[in-house]
Amino acid sequence: MYPELEGKSAVVTGSSRGFGRAIAERLASEGANVIVNYRRSKTEAMEVVETINARGRGRATAVRADVGREESLDALFEEAEEEFGSLDILVANAAFGVPGQLLETTVRHWDVTMHASAHSLLGMAQRALPLMSNGWGRIISITSEGGQRVLPSYGVVGVAKAALEALTRSLAVELAPKGIVVNGVLAGIADTKSARRIPGADDLITEAQERTPAGRIIVPDDVANAVAFLASDQASMVVGQFLVVDGGLTIVK
Ligand SMILES: NC(=O)c1ccc[n+]([C@@H]2O[C@H](COP(=O)([O-])OP(=O)(O)OC[C@H]3O[C@@H](n4cnc5c(N)ncnc54)[C@H](OP(=O)(O)O)[C@@H]3O)[C@@H](O)[C@H]2O)c1
Repeated sequence: MYPELEGKSAVVTGSSRGFGRAIAERLASEGANVIVNYRRSKTEAMEVVETINARGRGRATAVRADVGREESLDALFEEAEEEFGSLDILVANAAFGVPGQLLETTVRHWDVTMHASAHSLLGMAQRALPLMSNGWGRIISITSEGGQRVLPSYGVVGVAKAALEALTRSLAVELAPKGIVVNGVLAGIADTKSARRIPGADDLITEAQERTPAGRIIVPDDVANAVAFLASDQASMVVGQFLVVDGGLTIVK
């Protein structure tokens, strides 16, 4: 538990299910008030809000916004300002991409994927900055092994993750003097809806299950635990790094 997170305000993008949901619930269990962002899945987002509010720790509000669209980002941060007055924690978790063979990528696939999965971090950091003006802030991005290695059929999503990682490091350097600590979580494969959209997901998941030294693939709560740590004061001198949460899979051959 991290008592310093009590009363903090947080935006968690893509928190209607999967990693984002676990992160929103974890931060709220620490006493943070959370905006549960979603793009389409309103029913699932409302369920997350109800679950958090029923627990009686941090409170939650759902906000619809497509992180790939500038006007949506404006609306998301206007809502955050209206709700909280300021912002302490931003978790850039939502990603949307078109997986498949890289050579089959269209300009439209490229644009949609890069906007939602990489540029969104910059757009959100620019909007979060004026709200994080009290000398304490956290920005945490969520990436995958595909930003550094070639995963089968991951296509342009891997390119977007590489850009997201470079952005995370650059933002970390620019924002550290303001007390805003920027880091990322590099998550291993988990059995979520977005993982299932990658062609060959069954094989990827089965292989990860067999090869992970810890004996299982990760679940969303494993990522949420890492995010809570990076949001805490314990991680205040961890700057521009990626905490790998994969049960040891990427360190074995
Ligand atoms: N699952 C894995 O194996 C894995 C591994 C490493 C990294 N990651 C990363 O972890 C993050 C979360 O993935 P997940 O597996 O938890 O996915 P997920 O279960 O499919 O959840 C994705 C969430 O993002 C939202 N979303 C999608 N596009 C959005 C957009 N343009 N604007 C706002 N919200 C949007 C979805 O809401 P709507 O349905 O309403 O759009 C949903 O809440 C992603 O960045 C992903 O790349 C996943």
